[in-house]
Amino acid sequence: MHSRGFLLISAVSLFALGFAGCRSLPPSKPSSEWTPQEARGAAVFEAKCARCHYPTSTRPLHGPGLQALTKLKAMPSGAPPTDERITEVILHGRQMMPATSLSDDQLNDLLAYLHTL
Ligand code: HEC
Repeated sequence: MHSRGFLLISAVSLFALGFAGCRSLPPSKPSSEWTPQEARGAAVFEAKCARCHYPTSTRPLHGPGLQALTKLKAMPSGAPPTDERITEVILHGRQMMPATSLSDDQLNDLLAYLHTL
């Protein structure tokens, strides 16, 4: 009886930990399913954003983790995660985040990739 109770408690706490750990965010699209545009966007992210942002975690690096960015109600600043607002942040920067200059193609590819997160 004793060990059964212990097992039950372990199962419950593992369950709770699992939820706290991933905060029930929708999963990112696996790289094996990326379109060519999303893959090009991932390369732009790697070159221009990855040193400050984790793409598949909400843990902060120099800036906030960007997992599920476009699927959330609001970005860390409270602004809605629309392509317009994200473009604004990328091209003009925001507080400690520097502005990044990108061609229109790079920007569109990057936005497509951000939607997979
Ligand atoms: C030098 C580090 C750095 C780089 C490079 C960088 N960021 Fe950021 N980013 C930050 C910081 C710091 C913040 C938090 C800004 C603030 O105080 O609101 C941030 C915030 C953000 C936000 C949240 C904005 C909001 O409204 O809450 C998004 C989205 C974002 N960055 C995307 C990107 C993308 C995409 C790139 C690549 C083009 C990029 N960042 C490059 C540091 C960086």
